[in-house]
Amino acid sequence: MNLKQKYGQTALVAGASEGIGAAFATRLALEGMDLVLIARRIQPLQQLADLLENKYKVNVLCIPCDLGGTDVSHQIQETLNGREINLLVYNAALSFIGPFTGNSAGDHFRAAQINMLTPLNLVHLFGEKMLTKGKGAIILMTSLAGFQGSGYLSVYAATKAFTRVLAESLWYEWKNKGVDVIGCIAGATATLNYRNTNPDKTGFLTPKVLAPGEVVNECFRKLGKQPSFITGRGNRLASFIMQRILPRKMVVNIMGDNTRKMYGL
Ligand SMILES: NC(=O)c1ccc[n+]([C@@H]2O[C@H](COP(=O)([O-])OP(=O)(O)OC[C@H]3O[C@@H](n4cnc5c(N)ncnc54)[C@H](OP(=O)(O)O)[C@@H]3O)[C@@H](O)[C@H]2O)c1
Repeated sequence: MNLKQKYGQTALVAGASEGIGAAFATRLALEGMDLVLIARRIQPLQQLADLLENKYKVNVLCIPCDLGGTDVSHQIQETLNGREINLLVYNAALSFIGPFTGNSAGDHFRAAQINMLTPLNLVHLFGEKMLTKGKGAIILMTSLAGFQGSGYLSVYAATKAFTRVLAESLWYEWKNKGVDVIGCIAGATATLNYRNTNPDKTGFLTPKVLAPGEVVNECFRKLGKQPSFITGRGNRLASFIMQRILPRKMVVNIMGDNTRKMYGL
């Protein structure tokens, strides 16, 4: 059974124009699903939409908006005008690399909105309808950074812990109701956003960087089978050592030290 047969006609990807989000959109179009794509910049979004429409003969609706707006889920709902969403991918995130006080509290609130509150609203909005129908799927992008305190990535890491726990909790609540939820716990992935951060030296327990398509394919293999998964064998091994073997204090120190070295902080 393909994704369209299993979940329905339409998928929404929030944060879709490049990187992992674009790879999700491409895979979903390949499966014959119509798409609703969200990002702030309309040009790259529309370019991807045109490409997918031509190549896979699917319908694509672009919604250019900022997922950091407090009212954005209402805006999306209004634009959809009753159109059903059968599969939701929440991919966009805001991350600040650097000391906690290097950003204003307002900046951190914005990260909390994009990484936690907007996905919370969208999961509530679409999840409720999926439950009524007895089928649907929700994929929430999260990060290895959310497994422990991660100095110099503090707010990003904390929001990603929230997302993982939310996904895992809803997987349990909805697993017998036809709605598959999964937290996709990514390690370093070769997206523009990742490359723009200019990571430098890699440190102890730093696995290889994956391609966005690898992350997406693995996600669809695991969707419906487990509450969350870590992308890539190297990340799983590193995570096993960090979370199951090493003492917490050492793990938090390794994370902070690696981030400092990678970004010359
Ligand atoms: N890349 C990695 O190494 C890595 C590692 C661990 C976890 N992750 C997770 O994987 C996900 C994807 O990461 P990514 O590196 O591909 O890049 P990203 O910067 O999180 O997302 C890129 C996409 O989201 C859109 N976007 C970003 N902010 C937005 C906003 N405020 N409103 C609407 N759209 C927005 C961007 O388009 P516009 O700029 O046009 O808005 C773009 O299409 C994130 O959740 C991230 O935490 C990534």
